[in-house]
Amino acid sequence: MRLRSVELEIPDVAPAAEFLERLWGLVPAGSAGATRFFRGAGDHPYILSLTKAAAPAVAAVTFAGSLEELAKVGRPDRSFDVPGGGQGFEVRGPEGQVYRFITDSAVERLNDKAKPIQLTHAVINSTDVEASERYAVEKLGFKVSDRTAHMRFIRCNRKHHALAYAKSEFASLNHIAFEMHDMDAVMRGIGRLRDAGHEPVWGPGRHGPGNNVFGYFIAPYGGIVEYTAEVSEVDENYKVGTPEDWKWSPGRIDHWGISKKDTVKTTAAEKVLRFRA
Ligand SMILES: [Fe+2]
Repeated sequence: MRLRSVELEIPDVAPAAEFLERLWGLVPAGSAGATRFFRGAGDHPYILSLTKAAAPAVAAVTFAGSLEELAKVGRPDRSFDVPGGGQGFEVRGPEGQVYRFITDSAVERLNDKAKPIQLTHAVINSTDVEASERYAVEKLGFKVSDRTAHMRFIRCNRKHHALAYAKSEFASLNHIAFEMHDMDAVMRGIGRLRDAGHEPVWGPGRHGPGNNVFGYFIAPYGGIVEYTAEVSEVDENYKVGTPEDWKWSPGRIDHWGISKKDTVKTTAAEKVLRFRA
């Protein structure tokens, strides 16, 4: 199973598309009705969709797999009119989180190390991370990689996390992370955004769980996007970390100790993309 895409609804698609294509590095992958699709340099037909809507929302977090893999979660009940097509279904988590599952399909990779390859994780704000984790494990068949005081890291393949749940007072999409070729590509991406007047709201830095490097920005539609690289891979022998294992020393919020987080901006941005009731 692979994290494939995130489906967003926003009022102003044009400035968001401009940002994603010209600065962030995504590639247009067609449109259908009010929806525009964007791909990365990897083999997914698309990794982000933007649908024009009256209010911002997150319509779905989408995973792709074989029919056999999908069968462990549910039964395809429709075909989706998206690049790559596919049969699939949607299920809802305990706080209305929409997880879409679709049959996997692949396109030719692009040879451009400045472009995001694919999504590597989506972080979801949750008022009950225990319930969200339980749903991901019991209903979606995913595995827990680490638990910290504030977060639960969940994997669906060898990558340390494809999903994470962050403790919050509201349920929403916290951010989506785009996997870059390497740390250099993350740094160059951060520079490209800064040149265009977009300061990172957090980073560059290196996370604890997953050990990935990061740089966070706020996209024009108000939600948070992350450049990341070097996320660790784990296997069945990985010992699930506990909050005790993941304590920072005072003043630290990442391994490098050089990053500052603009919590005013990030907290506001985390409220923008809610799952629809
Ligand atoms: Fe992240």
